[in-house]
Amino acid sequence: MSRFSYFTALLAAVASTVHAQTSTTCQPLNETCPPDVALGTSHTWNFSSNSILDSTWNITNGAVDYTDNAMKFSIAKKLDSPTIQSNFYIFFGRMEYHVQAAPGQGVISSVVLESDDLDEVDWEWVGSSDTQVQSNYFGKGETIAGTGLTHNISGSTTDAYHNYTTWWDKDKLEWWFDNTLLRTVYAADAKNSTNTWYPQTPMTIRLGNWPGGDPAQPEGRIIWAGGIIDYDSGPYNMYVSQISAQDFSSGKEYTYSDHSGDWKSINITAGNSTISDTLNTKHETLAQKWANLAPGAKIAIYASVGGVLGIGLMVLLFCCIKQRRIGKREWNVQNNRFMEERTDMMNMQAEWRQKGYVEMK
Ligand SMILES: *[C@@H]1O[C@H](CO)[C@@H](O)[C@H](O)[C@H]1NC(C)=O
Ligand SMILES: *[C@@H]1O[C@H](CO)[C@@H](O)[C@H](O)[C@H]1NC(C)=O
Ligand SMILES: *[C@@H]1O[C@H](CO)[C@@H](O)[C@H](O)[C@H]1NC(C)=O
Ligand SMILES: *[C@@H]1O[C@H](CO)[C@@H](O)[C@H](O)[C@H]1NC(C)=O
Ligand SMILES: *[C@@H]1O[C@H](CO)[C@@H](O)[C@H](O)[C@H]1NC(C)=O
Ligand SMILES: *[C@@H]1O[C@H](CO)[C@@H](O)[C@H](O)[C@H]1NC(C)=O
Ligand SMILES: *[C@@H]1O[C@H](CO)[C@@H](O)[C@H](O)[C@H]1NC(C)=O
Ligand SMILES: *[C@@H]1O[C@H](CO)[C@@H](O)[C@H](O)[C@H]1NC(C)=O
Repeated sequence: MSRFSYFTALLAAVASTVHAQTSTTCQPLNETCPPDVALGTSHTWNFSSNSILDSTWNITNGAVDYTDNAMKFSIAKKLDSPTIQSNFYIFFGRMEYHVQAAPGQGVISSVVLESDDLDEVDWEWVGSSDTQVQSNYFGKGETIAGTGLTHNISGSTTDAYHNYTTWWDKDKLEWWFDNTLLRTVYAADAKNSTNTWYPQTPMTIRLGNWPGGDPAQPEGRIIWAGGIIDYDSGPYNMYVSQISAQDFSSGKEYTYSDHSGDWKSINITAGNSTISDTLNTKHETLAQKWANLAPGAKIAIYASVGGVLGIGLMVLLFCCIKQRRIGKREWNVQNNRFMEERTDMMNMQAEWRQKGYVEMK
């Protein structure tokens, strides 16, 4: 059975569709690249219809949707392949993903750590094998026999959320399913006398649902994906309710100081990144703003909240009407922006009530 890098395969698959991402990423093994923005802290994202993708993530292909308690990655038609990516990097860390994988033959749910020089750490779920999960890793994109393993688990990966946790430090990699350790890879074992293939450079987080069994895919890949996908029996939905990321490094950004791709060559610049600032200050800013307002202004603002919500509703209607014209992806960005504003408004109201500034209606 052929093994391959999810990322490389996705690029190839996506390149053959209308969704092609044309941006070229800088290859630090060959070029001098701009610094990677660090997470530099720990954070949990709970996804729900009320907490949309914030500026710390980008949708890199297709569109995502939301349920009451999760983000939904749906394959509803040929070559749908919704994917998101963190706008930050972790330089060693602990990742916790709460995932309900998508069912269906030819459907691959995946959660991947990916660095600029193609180090990679994977979780993958084949939709037709719901009692199994696959672990894999790559150093510098190189395919080495035996890095990919399939694990039998108890329960179903597609009927319920499970906690998939990755521990990644300079010495070892661990894959945890709920509270069971499935696998450990030691850095000392992921090398020979001339090469090393242990992942060790700053990573982004990428999540997606992907029709690996599309008929246009190479035969080996279709077999790996469990067979040809039947688009008519979809949609095939992957759900992610929560992601926790802990960056083991703290700093503002990570820079490759040479072309070795060795973890010792990564420079850590001290400070807080724009990402950690966003995550740490967003909530305070709102409370701060309110606290600084004069009582008269507070009353005036509250009086206008009803009006603003009304305007928000009109914006949503406008977005919905516009959806057909501007396409789903742009619509999603617009909608996210609106949802973010709406969430802020709700939070603000909740805070006001807690502080006793206003009475419940
Ligand atoms: C580096 O560049 C050379 C020449 O352009 C190319 O052959 C090689 O594949 C590149 N290596 C990587 C890792 O991108
Ligand atoms: C996120 O979800 C977890 C599990 O449901 C919960 O324990 C935690 O309080 C939530 N955090 C936030 C900030 O909502
Ligand atoms: C995320 O998307 C925004 C808007 O499209 C873009 O400006 C930004 O460069 C993207 N960030 C990354 C890290 O790709
Ligand atoms: C996993 O399950 C499959 C069939 O369900 C079985 O053939 C295989 O031996 C099991 N693997 C392990 C490692 O237990
Ligand atoms: C998820 O699993 C990891 C590894 O077993 C564990 O440390 C963590 O506490 C679990 N998270 C939750 C919310 O149970
Ligand atoms: C070491 O591994 C590389 C693959 O990364 C392989 O091409 C090479 O032949 C191996 N060298 C030895 C001495 O086994
Ligand atoms: C990395 O850090 C070293 C030591 O502080 C410094 O000499 C070098 O210029 C840095 N390189 C880059 C690319 O930041
Ligand atoms: C970084 O952020 C933390 C927490 O928000 C703050 O206490 C600290 O002063 C910040 N450091 C710098 C250099 O801005």
